[in-house]
Amino acid sequence: MDTYTLFFTASLIGIGLYWFLFVLGSAEQKGKHVVHLSSGSISAEKVLDNYNQYSSFFRRPKEILETAEDKVPAFVDTFYNLVTDIYEWGWGQSFHFSPSIPGKSHREATRLHEEMVVHLLGSKPGDRVLDAGCGVGGPMRAIAAHSGSNVVGITINEYQVKRARIHNKKAGLDGLCQVITGNFLSMPFDNDSFDAAYSIEATCHAPKLEEVYAEIFRVLKPGGMYVSYEWVTTELYDNGDEDQVEIVQGIERGDALPGLRSYRDIAEIARKVGFEVVKEKDLAKPPAKPWWSRLKMGKVAYWRNHILVTVLSWIGIAPQGTVDVHEMLCKTAVYLTKGGETGIFTPMYMILCRKPESSVNSS
Ligand SMILES: C[S@@+](CC[C@H](N)C(=O)[O-])C[C@H]1O[C@@H](n2cnc3c(N)ncnc32)[C@H](O)[C@@H]1O
Repeated sequence: MDTYTLFFTASLIGIGLYWFLFVLGSAEQKGKHVVHLSSGSISAEKVLDNYNQYSSFFRRPKEILETAEDKVPAFVDTFYNLVTDIYEWGWGQSFHFSPSIPGKSHREATRLHEEMVVHLLGSKPGDRVLDAGCGVGGPMRAIAAHSGSNVVGITINEYQVKRARIHNKKAGLDGLCQVITGNFLSMPFDNDSFDAAYSIEATCHAPKLEEVYAEIFRVLKPGGMYVSYEWVTTELYDNGDEDQVEIVQGIERGDALPGLRSYRDIAEIARKVGFEVVKEKDLAKPPAKPWWSRLKMGKVAYWRNHILVTVLSWIGIAPQGTVDVHEMLCKTAVYLTKGGETGIFTPMYMILCRKPESSVNSS
């Protein structure tokens, strides 16, 4: 082989390796790379063990409420340690769905879904807005940038806080966005201290919705608005239909949910804690285009990524157990897609509430 051919072949292999390891499967150009998949705050040798504990805890989600409700936040934390890097790598910095919009990228559709929160809350510069269950802060940055409000995010997962702070700084939004680790069932904030609040696909992790809604109600100023995008079963769900039950349980098990609620319960619970319900709407209903198309179109990509994760785990770059977590997420994507296609499930049941002007906190 002459020098030229050797150089050419070596360059091709180098580019191929770079593409395979640093580009393949990454959701956003500057997102996580597959070689940097960790498992949050869990040390590498404990990942498989943590995954096994998680999956046995969430095997029968509905029973959790009767036996181990108080353990839910800790297992949700474990879940997000296991999945946060994989989500960032394969999905991006916003851990939620949005209806697809013809002619727009997933990223743009995601941003528009987030900016809708600003319009619903009427947030403006100088407002202090709570993000309950903020993930790594994709929505928070979009909302702060669009409204000029100060957004304070809380998440149960410490690793997400670290990631969110890095992203906030990179985006030049650390002046407007603040993030803390904490449980949204008992938040370290004063009564009446926020002008508005929102939660995007997060309160579904609460064992009892009334507990998180009551806590959000407490920290809101009288007259303050709250909007939530809830994961619920719809009017099409029949709990006597075995196939439908399997879909719902698949979603619960693979997403750390202690039992999905019905859309019927949401407004009732909001009223019970003291809110006035201004509006409720399933944002997934037509003319909205499918939110699950992103999962469906990604099937080939899921397999490609699965092979990548397997290879990296095998050579010791990704922790042992990463393959199991990735497999669980692939299976869950199938259940979510079925939930969307059958119309029995929606991840965007929107409820808009107001804390009455006359409210006095009981605590
Ligand atoms: C599906 S992610 C959504 C994150 C974010 N809202 C977004 O759309 O990108 C759910 C979030 O809820 C948070 N969460 C779940 N249970 C919680 C709890 N008890 N207290 C605080 N955060 C919680 C998780 O840590 C995670 O950040």
